[in-house]
Amino acid sequence: MEQKFSVTVKETGDVFPCAGDEAVLKAMIHAGRGPVRHGCCGGGCGVCRMRIVDGKWEVFKNMSRAHVGEEDEKNGIVLLCCVQPRSNLTVARIN
Ligand code: FES
Repeated sequence: MEQKFSVTVKETGDVFPCAGDEAVLKAMIHAGRGPVRHGCCGGGCGVCRMRIVDGKWEVFKNMSRAHVGEEDEKNGIVLLCCVQPRSNLTVARIN
């Protein structure tokens, strides 16, 4: 059975489930929780850009460097449509 993790949105306390083979953004949209409700889901538009403040994740789809620089990525800034969870996660908006 595919492993399920939970994702918490720091600002709102919203929590939603996300499978290990699922993009975090898709799970967020599916659950109707969190600040992002739509997007290209392809790593190009940047609307799903958030910071992962806690947990482990994996990038499974190329993130546009126009939206996430290498330095950003080291600091947990990702495109949620391009990452899958490897543990429970906490995500936060980027001011
Ligand atoms: S939804 Fe467009 S980059 Fe993630």
